[in-house]
Amino acid sequence: MSVTYLDNAATSFPKPARVYERMEKFLREEAANPGRSGHRMSVEAEASVESARALIAKFIGAQDASRIAFALNCTDALNMGMKGILKKGDHVITSVLEHNSVLRPLHSLEEDGVITLTKVKPNKDCVINPEDIGKAFTHKTRLVALTHASNVTGTLQPICEIGKIVRERGALFLVDGAQTIGVFPIDVETDFIDLLAFPGHKSLLGPTGTGGLYVGKRVEEITPWREGGTGMGSENPTHPEDFPFVLEGGTPNTVGIVGLAEGLKFVYDTGIDVIRDHEFKLMKQLREGLKSIKGVKTFGLDSVKQSTATLSFVLEGLDPADVGIILDQSFNLALRSGIHCAPLCHEFLGTFPTGTIRVSPGFFNSEKDIESLLNALRQLTKQE
Ligand SMILES: Cc1ncc(COP(=O)(O)O)c(C=O)c1O
Repeated sequence: MSVTYLDNAATSFPKPARVYERMEKFLREEAANPGRSGHRMSVEAEASVESARALIAKFIGAQDASRIAFALNCTDALNMGMKGILKKGDHVITSVLEHNSVLRPLHSLEEDGVITLTKVKPNKDCVINPEDIGKAFTHKTRLVALTHASNVTGTLQPICEIGKIVRERGALFLVDGAQTIGVFPIDVETDFIDLLAFPGHKSLLGPTGTGGLYVGKRVEEITPWREGGTGMGSENPTHPEDFPFVLEGGTPNTVGIVGLAEGLKFVYDTGIDVIRDHEFKLMKQLREGLKSIKGVKTFGLDSVKQSTATLSFVLEGLDPADVGIILDQSFNLALRSGIHCAPLCHEFLGTFPTGTIRVSPGFFNSEKDIESLLNALRQLTKQE
């Protein structure tokens, strides 16, 4: 019996067939070091990386593709962004909904005495009120760092309204697009985003080991944490300051990047609306099904269209970790239990430290998969 994978909020699986095929072809036939050597293979490998960059730029409405730096994952991109721009004395606003990839770098900067930090709470439905962001500003606020959607409840955040406030107040706006890029539209211009961190391996349908950071023009200076070879200006003892090289020291993950580009082409060819509608349909089925099972408690805004395809729930009287193990080992269902690297969100929800069970279907799941989960939960709670 094959596993029914419902953990796409962690990483999407499977990938479109064309991603596997493109990566294999690239690795077998084209994988020279891009831009390092003058030979044709190297030039072509560089062209593949640059066309991936251009495709992503178009997807997020970025006017200048060179302002997108490839990264290892979203965590890497968030670290590059926050640690690259924050300076001693800066004040940062974030929220309790954030993933540890935002919370931990900010915590360590706070501990080191570099920044001061304010963590805004959402309303009871897990939605942040833009006015609360405005109220948290001090005269030292340099950055507002927020997730586009909670990875625990899937609840979407009003990033455009928040971005407008941040722009009016003269600070920089960093959005963590981990849970939305590839399914919900993001436009760095109309959403007033200065820095957008994204993974390549979730809804962009690329492989693990990929991600990126968009750095808008309002960011005048960014300090790289990684310096080294960039294939140009090698006679210079200092790392280049121009984009994207400033953030891309060392040989990039070319095979991952071409896989990411292929995943994004799949999203383009299928249509982001078609992908989202499919996920909405599955989530409607899931939300309705869960309501018919006694003892289930769900979290976050109860709205299919204001949420990503991620939902957290608990079963009365059962430890989420045990439920996760039973679903995996007895029902072949892969879900994620626990606190999902978002401890403050669970504290806010009252589910810390045991957490919740998180379901996150993707484009390749079917209604049958949701039914299998609902059936398993009925059996587990002895309601069938
Ligand atoms: C909201 C959010 N931000 C950041 C990350 C970190 O992403 P990555 O695993 O690509 O580093 C995740 C991962 O699940 C996430 O859900």
